[in-house]
Amino acid sequence: MLPSTMKAVQQYVFGGPEVLRYEDAPLPQLQAGEVLVRVHAVGLNPPDWYLRDGYKMLPPEWQPEVAFPVILGTDISGVVDTVTDDVRDFAVGDEVYSMVRFPSGLAGGSRAYAQYVSVPAAELALKPKSISHAQAAAAPMSLLTAWQFMIELGHEIQNPLQPHQHAPVPLEDKTVVINGAAGGVGHFALQLAKWKGARVIAIGSGGHEAFLRSLGADEFIDYTKTAAEEVLRDVDLVIDAVGGPSSGRFLPTLKRGGALFPVFPLGFSGAEDAERLGVTVSTTQVRSSGAQLARLASLLDSGVVRVAIDSSFSLQDAAKAHERAARGHIRGKIVLSVIEQG
Ligand SMILES: NC(=O)c1ccc[n+]([C@@H]2O[C@H](COP(=O)([O-])OP(=O)(O)OC[C@H]3O[C@@H](n4cnc5c(N)ncnc54)[C@H](OP(=O)(O)O)[C@@H]3O)[C@@H](O)[C@H]2O)c1
Repeated sequence: MLPSTMKAVQQYVFGGPEVLRYEDAPLPQLQAGEVLVRVHAVGLNPPDWYLRDGYKMLPPEWQPEVAFPVILGTDISGVVDTVTDDVRDFAVGDEVYSMVRFPSGLAGGSRAYAQYVSVPAAELALKPKSISHAQAAAAPMSLLTAWQFMIELGHEIQNPLQPHQHAPVPLEDKTVVINGAAGGVGHFALQLAKWKGARVIAIGSGGHEAFLRSLGADEFIDYTKTAAEEVLRDVDLVIDAVGGPSSGRFLPTLKRGGALFPVFPLGFSGAEDAERLGVTVSTTQVRSSGAQLARLASLLDSGVVRVAIDSSFSLQDAAKAHERAARGHIRGKIVLSVIEQG
């Protein structure tokens, strides 16, 4: 028998980590095609703090209408508790992972910081067996982002960030630069590029060098000592997992015919330079996909792609996890443990 309430982290106002409250909340109600998952672990991502704070980083016309109380979070790993009659692909007791309702849940519809989450079956996949719930919860958004940018977009939905669809480029035998390589997206992007046979130059702060080399980086640039754009030339692809207004500085590092993929494209202003230099600039917004997570499960299971955990907190300590995130220099992923692992 399911309880009528669950523990969740809710907020009633926008603000800093202190607005997050661990308390009772109603259990989610299942809609057709959905699965109720008992959550074991939650992976954190930048949209969690963007929503917590009221999307202050977005222009006002892009800020979504939000109804309180809000439950943050998108990425989960757990066990199927209940399925609706029309769900065929999952059964009670299955271990699963997901990025829940993204970007459709941008205004708070994903609701992952909780003991139970309702998930559209199309956004679920069986959890990779050989990794923990914490590692599985850490993967979805960051790994899907790297996958959809670099390997397979996987949908034909209009790109909200540019008029044309994003298209990955070949990576085999190419020189690929990953900026922000130690972070969630970056450490997966690095591993996917290596898997595809690229030579990878990773950029991060100095303390991450050994970590990034252990993931396969061929070269490392400590951006606190060296301006990457002054030493890089003839690069095929730059994945800029930091992005923002300074992303254009990578344009002169690219070969004619090369590409810059800013993962955080807001503020980018190098379109004319890109045209003059003969390089492509392209971005996209990550989308939920159970089918892609199922494909990625085999890469995670086999250890081709490893998940690095920066730090772990209990669900109750979600505010502390957000304080950790605000200090920056994240190496891999921050996770919340909802059910302690045995
Ligand atoms: N387009 C999409 O759909 C999409 C999807 C996911 C994420 N994003 C965006 O992508 C960005 C990265 O997300 P994430 O989850 O990977 O964040 P993250 O885990 O916080 O990683 C960011 C990394 O960047 C490094 N960094 C910070 N400043 C840097 C600089 N000046 N030069 C080089 N590295 C620097 C940080 O460590 P060090 O400074 O110690 O090296 C950290 O490892 C965020 O802005 C996020 O909003 C977009």
